[in-house]
Amino acid sequence: MDVKDKVVLITGASGGIGSELARLLARKGALLALMSRNVNTLNKLKEELGNSAIVVAGDVGDEKSAEKAVKDTLGHFKRLDILINNAGSAYHGSIEHMDMKAFDSMMKTNVYGVIIMIQHSLPFLKKTKGMVVNISSVASKRAIPMLGAYSGSKSMVDAISDALRVETMGYGIKVLNFCPPEVDTDFAKNAAKERGIDFEAQKNLRRAMTLKPDKVARMIVNGIEKEKREIVAMKSIRPVNYFMPGVLDKLFYRFIMKPYKDRYSS
Ligand SMILES: NC(=O)c1ccc[n+]([C@@H]2O[C@H](COP(=O)([O-])OP(=O)(O)OC[C@H]3O[C@@H](n4cnc5c(N)ncnc54)[C@H](OP(=O)(O)O)[C@@H]3O)[C@@H](O)[C@H]2O)c1
Repeated sequence: MDVKDKVVLITGASGGIGSELARLLARKGALLALMSRNVNTLNKLKEELGNSAIVVAGDVGDEKSAEKAVKDTLGHFKRLDILINNAGSAYHGSIEHMDMKAFDSMMKTNVYGVIIMIQHSLPFLKKTKGMVVNISSVASKRAIPMLGAYSGSKSMVDAISDALRVETMGYGIKVLNFCPPEVDTDFAKNAAKERGIDFEAQKNLRRAMTLKPDKVARMIVNGIEKEKREIVAMKSIRPVNYFMPGVLDKLFYRFIMKPYKDRYSS
């Protein structure tokens, strides 16, 4: 799908991957509705992008604001071609000590939010034979310790993408599921900070495995243009987890659990 002149609603546009996606899509001639809760950051991005963008602030986990975001997009641009479900949050902590309120809040954004944004957008995407892009994670393919609930929320995003792709095939709608590895944004750092974890301790491992958000944006837009069904931006994860899951257990234990053993051993 050529993105030029297409109307794209991006959730989580005030953050790392979402902002880079907006910049790249604007350069390619797309018209953008930028959604997230932080209006000030969205307004700054809009100023940078000019008339090709509008701000439709709101919380994806809130039914009314999801509905309003789609309505405002339609009110301004009169059509919707692509919905990018990029907004996401992480819960960082063990299964044993999981804070269930934080779990609920994350699920509301990562799962409930994805579904209601799709529900409100579909009537209009059917008219344009448009596209839904869901930003999942490689953690959906193999759960990461201390991110068990987050990994599960992204496995649900994969399931939503697979079901939706077939359910909407008859309408000519395309569904791209994009699974990035760790990306150099505030995302992982914020989640860790909330739990009092020092990410500096894992600096070298992280540097080797982290992608820059502008590169991730290019991969996503390439996937849209080529109408791919799924991109897992760490090809080894599935075969390694399938043939050698125990090796991953040991690697995760060595590099993720051991540095924090004292903290979580109570
Ligand atoms: N960074 C990584 O390592 C990584 C790896 C794999 C997958 N991902 C996924 O990639 C996506 C983008 O992540 P990122 O790294 O760009 O994160 P980020 O820099 O933290 O940005 C997250 C964005 O989501 C928005 N957001 C969060 N909760 C929201 C809600 N309830 N309603 C509306 N907007 C909300 C935030 O804006 P407001 O706070 O203003 O609402 C922000 O714009 C997420 O789905 C994440 O799970 C990230």
